[in-house]
Amino acid sequence: MPIDPSYLDRRQQAAVADTEGPVAIISCPGSGKTACLAARVARLLDSGEGQAGILCLTFTNRAAEEMRSRIQSYASLDTDGMWIGTIHSVCGRLLRAYGPSPDFSICDEKESKQIVRELVKAGSYGVRSPLEAAEHISRFKRSTMELDDWCNNMYKNMGYTYAAGFRSVYQAYQNELKVRNALDFDDLILHVYHLFQNEPNVLAAASSCFQYISIDEYQDTSLLETKVIQSLSSVHDNLCVIGDPNQSIYGWRGSVHQLISQFPKNYTGTTVHNLTTNYRSARSIVTAAGNLISRNTPLISTPTRPARGDNGHIIHSRYMDDEKEAEAIVQEIRKLVSDGRNYSDIAILYRIHAAADSLISALRSQAVPITLIREDLPDQEVIDAENGVAEQPDEDNAVRLMTIHQSKGMEFPVVFLIGLEEEVLPHWRSLSNTEHLEEERRLCYVAISRAVDRLYLSSCRSRILHRKSLNLTPSRFVDEMRGR
Ligand SMILES: Nc1ncnc2c1ncn2[C@@H]1O[C@H](COP(=O)(O)OP(=O)(O)OP(=O)(O)O)[C@@H](O)[C@H]1O
Ligand SMILES: [Mg+2]
Repeated sequence: MPIDPSYLDRRQQAAVADTEGPVAIISCPGSGKTACLAARVARLLDSGEGQAGILCLTFTNRAAEEMRSRIQSYASLDTDGMWIGTIHSVCGRLLRAYGPSPDFSICDEKESKQIVRELVKAGSYGVRSPLEAAEHISRFKRSTMELDDWCNNMYKNMGYTYAAGFRSVYQAYQNELKVRNALDFDDLILHVYHLFQNEPNVLAAASSCFQYISIDEYQDTSLLETKVIQSLSSVHDNLCVIGDPNQSIYGWRGSVHQLISQFPKNYTGTTVHNLTTNYRSARSIVTAAGNLISRNTPLISTPTRPARGDNGHIIHSRYMDDEKEAEAIVQEIRKLVSDGRNYSDIAILYRIHAAADSLISALRSQAVPITLIREDLPDQEVIDAENGVAEQPDEDNAVRLMTIHQSKGMEFPVVFLIGLEEEVLPHWRSLSNTEHLEEERRLCYVAISRAVDRLYLSSCRSRILHRKSLNLTPSRFVDEMRGR
C-alpha cells in the first residue's frame, strides 16, 4: 500500500521527502518521529531502492519488529532483505561477515558480571565490589581510551590500589573471554570500531553496502556507537538520525544526549526537521509533560502543540502502603475492563522492579492477565535473536508491566506510573547530583508521555523495597507536573 500523504502533516511530509544527505529529526514525544522513519524507508523502497542498501537501527529487537511491520504496512514491497535491528545485533552480523574470527560466541551482561565475580573471588585484586569492577570494564570499553590512559585517570581519581586492581581484573577478564572465544556486548561495537580503523578495505566494503542509514532514539547512542555509525555512513552520507534529547535515559550506560544536538554541527549540510504536534496524548498529559520537563536545563526544545482537543485524565493517588496501592490498581483495572477497555490497553510502569512486587502478586492472585516485559532487553535480545528464541509472550490481551526504560517509544491508552516517591523516582542515587536528577526527570517525562488517554500516578507513604519497609514522601515530580 503506498503511503497515504494525507495522514502526515506538512512538517512530517517534508521530513519524509528529505531522503538525501544528513538529516536530523528532533522533536517531542508522540510527534510522529518513528512514523516518519517508517514512511521514509517505505518511500525509499517504493522508489526502487534495493533492500540490502537500507539499514535501520532501533533500540530493541522488539522495536525493530514493530518498525518492520510499520514499514511493511506503508510500502508495496516486502522488507525481508532490509537490515533492521539494534546496533549490537548489526555489529554482531558485521563481525561475522567481515571480522577475522567470525565464529565467536556472545556473552551477555549477566555472564560478564558472573565472570568478573568469579575472578574477584579467586584472585586478590584489591577490588571492592565485583559489580563496580564490571561496570568500570564496560565504561572503559565504551570510552575508546587506551588502557594506560584510563588507568592513569583512575589512579588520579581513586588512588593507586584501585587503579591497579582494575587493571588486573580487566586483564584477567579479557583472558577469560579469549579462552571462551567470546565477545561481550561492548566488544561487539568496539571490535567493529577497531576493524574499521585498522582495515580500510573492510570499512570501504561495509560502508558501500549501506546507501541509506536511519537511526531511531539517537539521543541514547554512545560516543563509540556514533563513531561506528559515522564510519558506516562514510561512503553514501545518507544518514538520518531521529530522537529527542529530553528523552535521553541511558546516560548511566554511556549514552550522550548532546550528540543529537551536536549532529548538525558534526555533519555539514544537515537539514534539521522539528515536528511540533503531539498526536499521541490528550491535552492534560501533554501539558503535564511540558511542565515537568521545563524544570530541566533546557536542551534544544521544540514547542509542542497537542493535536487532540480532548483533555484526557490524570489521576494522582496517595496510598498508605504498596499493598493498598496494589488493591486499588487491581480494582481500577477491573473497572476499566468492565467499561470496555482491553487488558492490553493498559501498561504499568515503574522506575525499579522492586516497586512492583506487591502489585504483581495482587494481579496474579486476582487472575488479571499480565505480561512482564523483561529487563535488559536491548542486550539480551541480541542473544535471543541469534539463538532463534521466540521472545514474545502472549501480549494479545494482558496488562503489560515494565520498567520505564523498557517503555520508550511505546504508547498505551492507559498508563499507571507507580512509585512516584522521593528515593524511588527520583532514584536515591541521583539525589545529590544535578545531572543524574535531570536524567530521572527525563525518565519520568518518558513515562508519562507514553499515555494516550488516562494517566494514573501513585505515591505510597510506605513501601517495602528489597524486604525493607521505607517511609516515603511523594516525588517532587508530581508537583512539577502540575506546574507548581
Ligand atoms: N500526522 C499524524 N496524524 C495522526 N496521527 C499521527 C500522525 N503522526 C503520528 N501519528 C500517531 O501519533 C502517535 C505517535 O507517533 P510516533 O510513535 O511515531 O511518535 P514519536 O515521535 O516516535 O514518539 P516517541 O518520542 O515517544 O518515540 C502514533 O500513534 C502515530 O500513529
Ligand atoms: Mg518513537
